[in-house]
Amino acid sequence: HRHLLGIAGLTPFDIDLLLNRAERAVALSRQTDKKSSVLRGRTQINLFFEASTRTQSSFELAGKRLGADVMNMSVASSSVKKGETLIDTAMTLNAMRPDALVVRHASAGAVALLAQKVGCAVVNAGDGAHEHPTQALLDALTIRRAKGTIGGLTVAICGDVLHSRVARSNIILLNAMGAHVRVVAPSTLLPSGIGKMGVTPFHSMADGLKDADVVMMLRLQRERMAGASVPSVREYFRYFGLDAAKLKLAKPDALVMHPGPMNRGVEIASEVADGPQSMIQEQVEMGVAVRMGVLEALLDPRKNPEAGR
Ligand code: CP
Repeated sequence: HRHLLGIAGLTPFDIDLLLNRAERAVALSRQTDKKSSVLRGRTQINLFFEASTRTQSSFELAGKRLGADVMNMSVASSSVKKGETLIDTAMTLNAMRPDALVVRHASAGAVALLAQKVGCAVVNAGDGAHEHPTQALLDALTIRRAKGTIGGLTVAICGDVLHSRVARSNIILLNAMGAHVRVVAPSTLLPSGIGKMGVTPFHSMADGLKDADVVMMLRLQRERMAGASVPSVREYFRYFGLDAAKLKLAKPDALVMHPGPMNRGVEIASEVADGPQSMIQEQVEMGVAVRMGVLEALLDPRKNPEAGR
């Protein structure tokens, strides 16, 4: 694959290959000397039109650990502020001959559009409510390392599924790998076509968490909601927030996951986010490793004859 635009289109074989590559990157990242030279001489540009803590910094570290030159384009102080379009910005950066562009944008489909205009590998770092493929891959790696497998597990994805690219990418990946996927949310926070996505919807945490192996919480994206449909935080936490009492409904060894950033006391209580079943810090570590695996797969000419330009 020349680009990574989404999980849709990847086979279980592709996903396994990327996770295996990422597994090797975990080992490298745990060494004192974390540097490899497989991408020496390659240039990676991170172009984030939306805010990010985890994704941008882990893509930067991933490229640097593989020996690439990494540039973070500061959109806030760029000519985007003077009205330059997404495509003109991308074509300008493309003329500087990068080997990879890592792009986050608020509009679904914007990253795929950009990929048609440039001559380098493009990685989707999140496009609107569409996909966030490296998040789903890092979640899969976290689950696989903790449980040994993904197939056959029951995964409950809880909360604001409607606005979540993380949920979409995870649903596609987990289904492809043979997990049983549930979504747990009030009906106002589920997309209308959810029944066609191969998931079982639940409207109560008691039913949705029963016997779950993994409880994946989502951030309530209040900034994407209009006035009347914004739920009250207290009510939301009472019915759909994960606390120790609700977590007891899942299997005793269930993993607690959250992609971040968290709204503590809204969708998740601190006692659970910081508790013994929490995988949240592990997810961040796996984020660097998965992004190393993806960059290597797209850019290392020894492993991908199409890589480079
Ligand atoms: N999970 C995630 O994408 O976090 P950031 O928005 O901080 O990158």
